[in-house]
Amino acid sequence: MHDRIESLAARIGAAARVTILTGAGVSAASGVPTFRGRDGLWRQHRAEDLATPQAFRRDPALVWEWYAWRRETIGGCRPNAAHEIIARWSQRSGCTVVTQNVDDLHLRAGTRNLVRLHGSIWEQTCWNACPEGAVAWRDERQPLPEVPPRCVHCGSLARPAIVWFGESLRHEDLAAAMTATACDVFLTVGTSSVVYPAAGLVHEARARGAFTAEINLEATGASDGVDVAIQGGAEVVLPLIDAAIR
Ligand code: OAD
Ligand code: ZN
Repeated sequence: MHDRIESLAARIGAAARVTILTGAGVSAASGVPTFRGRDGLWRQHRAEDLATPQAFRRDPALVWEWYAWRRETIGGCRPNAAHEIIARWSQRSGCTVVTQNVDDLHLRAGTRNLVRLHGSIWEQTCWNACPEGAVAWRDERQPLPEVPPRCVHCGSLARPAIVWFGESLRHEDLAAAMTATACDVFLTVGTSSVVYPAAGLVHEARARGAFTAEINLEATGASDGVDVAIQGGAEVVLPLIDAAIR
Protein backbone atom coordinates (compact mmCIF):
# COMPACT_ATOMS: atom_id res chain seq x y z
CA MET A 1 0.00 0.00 0.00
CA HIS A 2 2.92 2.32 0.79
CA ASP A 3 4.19 2.22 -2.81
CA ARG A 4 0.74 2.95 -4.21
CA ILE A 5 0.32 5.93 -1.93
CA GLU A 6 3.75 7.25 -2.91
CA SER A 7 3.09 6.86 -6.62
CA LEU A 8 -0.35 8.46 -6.42
CA ALA A 9 1.04 11.33 -4.33
CA ALA A 10 3.74 11.92 -6.97
CA ARG A 11 1.09 12.00 -9.71
CA ILE A 12 -1.09 14.44 -7.80
CA GLY A 13 1.88 16.62 -6.91
CA ALA A 14 2.87 16.92 -10.57
CA ALA A 15 -0.65 17.29 -12.00
CA ALA A 16 -2.01 20.55 -13.36
CA ARG A 17 -5.59 19.27 -13.38
CA VAL A 18 -6.96 16.96 -10.70
CA THR A 19 -10.56 15.75 -10.57
CA ILE A 20 -11.97 13.97 -7.53
CA LEU A 21 -15.26 12.05 -7.66
CA THR A 22 -16.72 11.19 -4.28
CA GLY A 23 -19.50 8.96 -2.97
CA ALA A 24 -21.11 8.03 0.30
CA GLY A 25 -17.94 6.33 1.62
CA VAL A 26 -16.29 9.73 2.05
CA SER A 27 -18.95 10.67 4.60
CA ALA A 28 -19.07 7.28 6.33
CA ALA A 29 -16.51 8.27 8.96
CA SER A 30 -18.69 11.31 9.72
CA GLY A 31 -21.55 8.98 10.64
CA VAL A 32 -23.62 9.39 7.47
CA PRO A 33 -25.00 5.96 6.46
CA THR A 34 -23.97 4.71 3.01
CA PHE A 35 -26.52 3.36 0.55
CA ARG A 36 -25.21 -0.11 -0.24
CA GLY A 37 -23.28 -2.71 1.70
CA ARG A 38 -23.42 -3.41 5.41
CA ASP A 39 -25.82 -1.00 7.17
CA GLY A 40 -26.54 0.59 3.80
CA LEU A 41 -29.68 2.73 3.69
CA TRP A 42 -31.22 0.75 0.89
CA ARG A 43 -31.18 -2.42 2.99
CA GLN A 44 -34.01 -1.16 5.17
CA HIS A 45 -35.79 0.81 2.46
CA ARG A 46 -36.35 -0.12 -1.14
CA ALA A 47 -35.06 2.69 -3.31
CA GLU A 48 -38.00 2.39 -5.63
CA ASP A 49 -40.35 2.98 -2.68
CA LEU A 50 -38.73 6.25 -1.74
CA ALA A 51 -36.38 7.87 -4.22
CA THR A 52 -38.47 8.11 -7.36
CA PRO A 53 -41.00 10.62 -8.71
CA GLN A 54 -43.59 7.81 -8.72
CA ALA A 55 -43.09 7.19 -5.00
CA PHE A 56 -43.42 10.88 -4.26
CA ARG A 57 -46.59 11.14 -6.31
CA ARG A 58 -48.02 8.13 -4.45
CA ASP A 59 -47.05 9.11 -0.91
CA PRO A 60 -45.23 12.44 -0.47
CA ALA A 61 -45.56 12.27 3.32
CA LEU A 62 -43.75 8.91 3.49
CA VAL A 63 -40.95 10.14 1.23
CA TRP A 64 -40.62 13.36 3.22
CA GLU A 65 -40.52 11.44 6.53
CA TRP A 66 -37.58 9.48 5.19
CA TYR A 67 -35.78 12.65 4.11
CA ALA A 68 -36.62 14.36 7.41
CA TRP A 69 -35.04 11.41 9.23
CA ARG A 70 -31.94 11.57 7.03
CA ARG A 71 -31.67 15.35 7.56
CA GLU A 72 -31.74 14.73 11.29
CA THR A 73 -28.91 12.18 11.05
CA ILE A 74 -26.82 14.30 8.68
CA GLY A 75 -27.45 17.47 10.69
CA GLY A 76 -25.49 15.98 13.56
CA CYS A 77 -22.50 15.00 11.37
CA ARG A 78 -19.32 16.98 10.83
CA PRO A 79 -16.84 16.84 7.92
CA ASN A 80 -14.04 14.32 8.54
CA ALA A 81 -10.36 14.25 7.55
CA ALA A 82 -11.25 13.15 4.00
CA HIS A 83 -13.49 16.21 3.44
CA GLU A 84 -10.84 18.47 4.98
CA ILE A 85 -8.02 17.25 2.72
CA ILE A 86 -10.21 17.38 -0.40
CA ALA A 87 -11.25 20.93 0.56
CA ARG A 88 -7.60 21.93 0.88
CA TRP A 89 -6.64 20.38 -2.47
CA SER A 90 -9.60 22.16 -4.06
CA GLN A 91 -7.95 25.50 -3.36
CA ARG A 92 -5.36 24.66 -6.05
CA SER A 93 -6.29 25.88 -9.50
CA GLY A 94 -7.22 23.05 -11.85
CA CYS A 95 -8.91 20.97 -9.15
CA THR A 96 -12.57 19.99 -9.53
CA VAL A 97 -14.56 18.00 -6.97
CA VAL A 98 -17.59 16.11 -8.24
CA THR A 99 -19.75 14.56 -5.54
CA GLN A 100 -22.72 12.22 -5.56
CA ASN A 101 -23.37 13.05 -1.91
CA VAL A 102 -26.34 15.19 -0.96
CA ASP A 103 -25.14 15.84 2.62
CA ASP A 104 -23.21 19.05 1.76
CA LEU A 105 -20.30 18.03 4.01
CA HIS A 106 -17.90 19.01 1.19
CA LEU A 107 -19.46 22.48 1.18
CA ARG A 108 -19.21 22.73 4.94
CA ALA A 109 -15.52 21.80 4.74
CA GLY A 110 -15.01 24.77 2.37
CA THR A 111 -14.55 22.89 -0.90
CA ARG A 112 -14.19 25.09 -3.98
CA ASN A 113 -15.16 24.24 -7.53
CA LEU A 114 -17.69 21.65 -6.36
CA VAL A 115 -20.24 19.93 -8.60
CA ARG A 116 -23.11 18.37 -6.63
CA LEU A 117 -24.29 15.86 -9.20
CA HIS A 118 -27.22 14.52 -7.18
CA GLY A 119 -28.32 17.77 -5.52
CA SER A 120 -28.60 18.61 -1.84
CA ILE A 121 -30.75 17.34 1.00
CA TRP A 122 -30.75 20.92 2.37
CA GLU A 123 -32.40 22.37 -0.73
CA GLN A 124 -35.89 22.13 -2.14
CA THR A 125 -37.75 22.90 -5.34
CA CYS A 126 -41.44 23.15 -6.19
CA TRP A 127 -43.09 19.82 -7.00
CA ASN A 128 -45.79 21.75 -8.82
CA ALA A 129 -43.15 23.31 -11.10
CA CYS A 130 -44.13 26.95 -10.48
CA PRO A 131 -41.64 29.21 -12.30
CA GLU A 132 -39.92 30.72 -9.21
CA GLY A 133 -39.88 27.35 -7.46
CA ALA A 134 -37.81 25.78 -10.22
CA VAL A 135 -34.76 27.43 -8.66
CA ALA A 136 -33.77 25.52 -5.53
CA TRP A 137 -33.99 27.30 -2.18
CA ARG A 138 -32.17 26.32 1.00
CA ASP A 139 -33.99 25.14 4.09
CA GLU A 140 -31.79 23.94 6.93
CA ARG A 141 -34.45 24.22 9.61
CA GLN A 142 -34.23 21.31 11.98
CA PRO A 143 -36.71 19.76 12.42
CA LEU A 144 -38.74 20.91 9.45
CA PRO A 145 -41.71 22.85 10.88
CA GLU A 146 -44.04 21.10 8.47
CA VAL A 147 -43.74 17.66 6.82
CA PRO A 148 -44.24 17.67 3.89
CA PRO A 149 -42.92 21.23 3.50
CA ARG A 150 -44.53 23.70 1.09
CA CYS A 151 -43.15 25.69 -1.84
CA VAL A 152 -42.04 29.08 -0.52
CA HIS A 153 -43.42 30.69 -3.70
CA CYS A 154 -46.78 29.09 -4.50
CA GLY A 155 -47.62 27.12 -1.36
CA SER A 156 -48.01 23.76 -3.08
CA LEU A 157 -45.87 20.72 -2.23
CA ALA A 158 -42.09 21.14 -2.09
CA ARG A 159 -39.73 18.31 -2.98
CA PRO A 160 -36.11 17.64 -2.03
CA ALA A 161 -33.75 19.14 -4.65
CA ILE A 162 -32.28 15.68 -5.20
CA VAL A 163 -32.00 13.72 -8.41
CA TRP A 164 -34.18 10.65 -8.05
CA PHE A 165 -33.96 7.32 -9.89
CA GLY A 166 -35.35 7.76 -13.35
CA GLU A 167 -34.60 11.51 -13.43
CA SER A 168 -31.90 13.27 -15.43
CA LEU A 169 -29.01 15.12 -13.85
CA ARG A 170 -29.05 18.88 -14.24
CA HIS A 171 -27.57 19.64 -17.62
CA GLU A 172 -24.98 22.11 -16.31
CA ASP A 173 -23.81 19.72 -13.58
CA LEU A 174 -23.32 16.85 -15.99
CA ALA A 175 -21.55 19.17 -18.44
CA ALA A 176 -19.20 20.40 -15.69
CA ALA A 177 -18.46 16.83 -14.62
CA MET A 178 -17.77 15.77 -18.19
CA THR A 179 -15.46 18.75 -18.72
CA ALA A 180 -13.58 17.74 -15.57
CA THR A 181 -12.81 14.30 -17.03
CA ALA A 182 -10.18 16.10 -19.12
CA CYS A 183 -7.57 16.02 -16.36
CA ASP A 184 -4.16 14.63 -15.45
CA VAL A 185 -5.29 12.67 -12.40
CA PHE A 186 -8.81 11.38 -11.75
CA LEU A 187 -9.47 10.05 -8.28
CA THR A 188 -12.64 8.14 -7.39
CA VAL A 189 -13.23 7.91 -3.63
CA GLY A 190 -15.80 6.03 -1.56
CA THR A 191 -18.26 5.15 -4.28
CA SER A 192 -19.54 1.71 -5.25
CA SER A 193 -19.42 2.88 -8.89
CA VAL A 194 -22.76 1.39 -9.83
CA VAL A 195 -24.91 4.49 -10.39
CA TYR A 196 -24.55 6.10 -13.80
CA PRO A 197 -23.66 8.54 -15.24
CA ALA A 198 -21.33 9.21 -12.25
CA ALA A 199 -19.83 5.71 -12.49
CA GLY A 200 -18.82 6.33 -16.11
CA LEU A 201 -16.71 9.42 -15.37
CA VAL A 202 -13.58 7.53 -14.33
CA HIS A 203 -13.64 5.49 -17.55
CA GLU A 204 -14.14 8.65 -19.58
CA ALA A 205 -11.18 10.26 -17.80
CA ARG A 206 -8.97 7.25 -18.49
CA ALA A 207 -9.99 7.20 -22.13
CA ARG A 208 -8.97 10.84 -22.31
CA GLY A 209 -5.51 10.05 -20.93
CA ALA A 210 -5.85 10.68 -17.19
CA PHE A 211 -4.00 8.67 -14.57
CA THR A 212 -6.85 7.08 -12.61
CA ALA A 213 -7.02 5.93 -9.01
CA GLU A 214 -9.61 4.53 -6.63
CA ILE A 215 -9.78 4.70 -2.85
CA ASN A 216 -12.38 2.43 -1.28
CA LEU A 217 -12.72 0.06 1.66
CA GLU A 218 -13.25 -2.77 -0.80
CA ALA A 219 -12.85 -3.67 -4.47
CA THR A 220 -15.61 -2.30 -6.74
CA GLY A 221 -16.55 -2.69 -10.37
CA ALA A 222 -14.19 0.21 -11.12
CA SER A 223 -11.11 -1.32 -9.42
CA ASP A 224 -9.87 -3.33 -12.41
CA GLY A 225 -10.22 -0.35 -14.71
CA VAL A 226 -8.03 2.11 -12.77
CA ASP A 227 -4.26 2.54 -12.71
CA VAL A 228 -4.05 2.35 -8.92
CA ALA A 229 -6.62 0.94 -6.48
CA ILE A 230 -6.01 1.53 -2.79
CA GLN A 231 -8.11 -0.31 -0.24
CA GLY A 232 -8.74 1.62 2.95
CA GLY A 233 -10.89 4.29 4.53
CA ALA A 234 -10.87 7.63 2.74
CA GLU A 235 -10.34 9.38 6.09
CA VAL A 236 -7.15 7.32 6.57
CA VAL A 237 -5.76 7.09 3.04
CA LEU A 238 -6.23 10.72 1.95
CA PRO A 239 -4.20 12.11 4.87
CA LEU A 240 -1.42 9.60 4.01
CA ILE A 241 -1.41 10.77 0.39
CA ASP A 242 -1.48 14.39 1.46
CA ALA A 243 1.53 13.86 3.72
CA ALA A 244 3.39 12.16 0.85
CA ILE A 245 2.85 15.02 -1.62
CA ARG A 246 5.99 17.09 -1.91
P1 OAD B 1 -22.79 3.41 -2.00
O1 OAD B 1 -23.42 3.22 -0.67
O2 OAD B 1 -23.34 2.66 -3.16
O3 OAD B 1 -21.26 3.01 -1.90
C1 OAD B 1 -20.45 3.47 -0.85
C2 OAD B 1 -19.05 2.95 -1.10
O4 OAD B 1 -18.20 3.51 -0.11
C3 OAD B 1 -18.90 1.44 -1.02
O5 OAD B 1 -18.21 1.00 -2.17
C4 OAD B 1 -18.08 1.22 0.25
O6 OAD B 1 -17.18 0.14 0.13
C5 OAD B 1 -17.31 2.51 0.35
N1 OAD B 1 -16.92 2.93 1.70
C6 OAD B 1 -17.60 2.80 2.87
N2 OAD B 1 -16.95 3.40 3.88
C7 OAD B 1 -15.82 3.93 3.35
C8 OAD B 1 -14.72 4.68 3.86
N3 OAD B 1 -14.65 5.01 5.16
N4 OAD B 1 -13.75 5.06 3.00
C9 OAD B 1 -13.80 4.71 1.68
N5 OAD B 1 -14.81 4.02 1.14
C10 OAD B 1 -15.79 3.62 1.95
O7 OAD B 1 -22.76 4.98 -2.26
P2 OAD B 1 -22.55 5.78 -3.65
O8 OAD B 1 -21.59 5.08 -4.54
O9 OAD B 1 -22.23 7.17 -3.27
O10 OAD B 1 -28.11 8.67 -5.06
O11 OAD B 1 -24.01 5.70 -4.27
C11 OAD B 1 -24.31 6.39 -5.45
C12 OAD B 1 -25.71 6.96 -5.40
O12 OAD B 1 -26.64 5.92 -5.12
C13 OAD B 1 -25.95 7.97 -4.30
O13 OAD B 1 -25.54 9.26 -4.65
C14 OAD B 1 -27.42 7.90 -4.07
C15 OAD B 1 -27.69 6.42 -4.25
O14 OAD B 1 -28.87 6.12 -4.85
C16 OAD B 1 -28.84 9.76 -4.67
O15 OAD B 1 -28.90 10.15 -3.53
C17 OAD B 1 -29.56 10.42 -5.76
ZN1 ZN C 1 -44.18 26.51 -6.22
